[in-house]
Amino acid sequence: MKILVTGGLGFIGSHTCVELLENGHEVVVVDNLNNSKKDVLDKIKKITGSDKIKLYVEDVKNIKALDNIFKENNIECVIHFAGYKAVGESVKNPIMYYENNIVSTINLLNVMKKYNVKKIIFSSTATVYGEPKSCPVSENFSTGNTTNPYATTKYMIERILDDLYKSDNEWSIAILRYFNPIGAHKSGLIGENPNGIPNNLMPYILKVAAGELPKLNIFGNDYNTHDGTGVRDYIHVVDLAKGHVKAIEKISSENGVKVYNLGTGIGYSVLDIVNTFIEKNKVELPYEITDRRPGDVDEVFSNPTKAKNELGWEAKLSIDDMCVDSWNFKKNNI
Ligand code: UFG
Repeated sequence: MKILVTGGLGFIGSHTCVELLENGHEVVVVDNLNNSKKDVLDKIKKITGSDKIKLYVEDVKNIKALDNIFKENNIECVIHFAGYKAVGESVKNPIMYYENNIVSTINLLNVMKKYNVKKIIFSSTATVYGEPKSCPVSENFSTGNTTNPYATTKYMIERILDDLYKSDNEWSIAILRYFNPIGAHKSGLIGENPNGIPNNLMPYILKVAAGELPKLNIFGNDYNTHDGTGVRDYIHVVDLAKGHVKAIEKISSENGVKVYNLGTGIGYSVLDIVNTFIEKNKVELPYEITDRRPGDVDEVFSNPTKAKNELGWEAKLSIDDMCVDSWNFKKNNI
């Protein structure tokens, strides 16, 4: 199948392109390089040995560019990753988030409609659940009580996709709610390496381990968890990427809006991650316990059984793999 991947050079996008190519799909990437680098394309080709991937350096907000991509390629399905994703930044600049994430999606859906392409996988997030009432979190838990504009954009897009299907039952839509993706491809060629000071745990750990930042701040050790630090459902990005290949099979066989959690179902604390990282990689990782980060909750982990039952997908890689592969990528890219 010929698949358009928006944001295909980003962290999750690039790993998904690898899995798509390895499963015989053809890939067209549209990416504005806002949070990615052009050389990722060569790395994807190197890993897969495939050149069935083409890049357009364009912004998904640019409807003319999108139209041209659909005109030039026989796109059959879209995976929509492109979007801003920093929680703190979205609180400071909500208009920028609503404009970028919502306008790009509306443009994309309009062009898809024009070219009669009605299969889409949307990259959503566990933060659409807000502060979940209990764990594990299932797909039927209430959504929308979001705590920041970034999460609200994801929630709004989920609603738009729902309404779209209600208006036209020929659409086939999968909404994938990611938990906490970390890790990197085994090759060490692609991974997550944000510029500046990272917000998320693993990119921060990598910069501390590499000596680029002095120490990790662990945001609170008085949470109601086994060691007091926050618990999350970390998932290896390669497992996550494979979930997209399964979702394509699903939406190719039936119409509708399907929602799946992509997580492992296991919660690890910040200290579990830190200690595993130190032990498996034999590196030093200075840290300090600091105040809680506003908005953080005790624990969030998924119930992943719907994806297992309906997609035949489950996460296979362990916390050890996540820590070792993350560090392997960082070491190769210092
Ligand atoms: N943490 C630290 N120190 C840091 C960074 C994080 O102690 O420097 C802790 C947090 O307090 C939390 C855990 O590590 O307990 C994970 O924090 P992340 O920022 O890595 O991830 P979040 O769970 O807060 O949020 C992430 C993404 C969102 C996504 C969400 C899905 O940032 O985009 O997971 O649940 F939507």
